[in-house]
Amino acid sequence: SLPTIGLIPGDGIGHEVIPAARRILETVLPGIPLVDLDAGFATFERTGTALPPSTVQVLRDQCQGALFGAVSSPIHKVAGYSSPIVQLRKELDLYANVRPVVNKKAFNASGEQVGCDLVIVRENTECLYVKQERLETDANGESIAFATRQISQRASRRITETALRLAQQRAAARTSGTSLLTVVHKSNVLSVTDGLFRETARAVFAAAGSPTAVKIEDQLVDSMVYRLFRAPDSVDVVVAPNLYGDILSDAAAALAGSLGLVPSANVGPSFVMGEPVHGSAPDIAGKGVANPVAAIRSAGMLLAHLGYADEATRIDQAVETVMARGIATPDVPGGKASTNDVTSAVVAALQA
Ligand code: NAI
Ligand code: MG
Repeated sequence: SLPTIGLIPGDGIGHEVIPAARRILETVLPGIPLVDLDAGFATFERTGTALPPSTVQVLRDQCQGALFGAVSSPIHKVAGYSSPIVQLRKELDLYANVRPVVNKKAFNASGEQVGCDLVIVRENTECLYVKQERLETDANGESIAFATRQISQRASRRITETALRLAQQRAAARTSGTSLLTVVHKSNVLSVTDGLFRETARAVFAAAGSPTAVKIEDQLVDSMVYRLFRAPDSVDVVVAPNLYGDILSDAAAALAGSLGLVPSANVGPSFVMGEPVHGSAPDIAGKGVANPVAAIRSAGMLLAHLGYADEATRIDQAVETVMARGIATPDVPGGKASTNDVTSAVVAALQA
């Protein structure tokens, strides 16, 4: 039977791109059970909580996956508010954040159109994001802040296992039969924390029998950013601790041409949540011009992770077809279409 999917639009353009993705899901898997769920800043203002317990419960009890739009987060601290996406990742143990960036037209730093087809696999549960910060006073009576960075063998192992599986799948799908797994760290400076991450990644590779189809390499995080822009075509699968992965995946998104094109999936042992990389875009919300492609591609990733690989491929191909015809929203150079135009064109391509 078909998996049940929770739909969480959130705030702003989430209310435009998630309905677009819904049409695509209903087109490729007619009759798929979809449940509408609340979360976000507007939910917080209405109910006093950004992530109602009922949302988490329905996700846990009834759904195999979810699609999350975006939420608006206030820049100033608002009492009682905390980001529902961070909490959802924790509640559902979504330990891997997978962000593919594919763009045939990506430029390298020499101005050549070399293209890119890469995926950042970001650890999603620890590192500096354990949010153990404290403020003390130094000997001169001035403030000094500390933050704890947690890197565990367990989290490093399972994120590398996810990345290695992906690298093996990509190798198998290519005529070359090979792929490249880049382990990102800064163990020359942080030899204990990043050292553990690096060693654990190496151990996972060895435990898998050092598969010859996958070449493994190290890259320090600072030079990784340089390399992303210098030679995006030299990057394949990247695995990184949380903070480095966060920064690298936003940097990589710049290679895609628009934030409105970049999907992601939050993956756990028993749940997967698709999520466009962009935010709630208050500057264009309500105007009908939000790019639905990131959300549609996220729906495709969601289906791929739930075992519907053919449907996921069909979605990707339909999006490619529509983009190749120049049907795009204004965030894409030359784009003049509305959210609805692009979505209808993808639906038509799926039905063709
Ligand atoms: P943003 O991603 O919302 O927007 C950045 C720029 O990209 C804006 O000019 C926007 O119009 C454009 N853009 C983004 N998505 C687009 C799409 N699908 N189609 C066309 N144009 C698109 O980031 P910003 O402005 O920094 O944040 C706005 C709000 O979103 C904030 O409240 C922030 O906290 C929240 N946010 C939420 C995220 C999430 O829910 N995962 C991630 C990033 C930001
Ligand atoms: Mg980010």
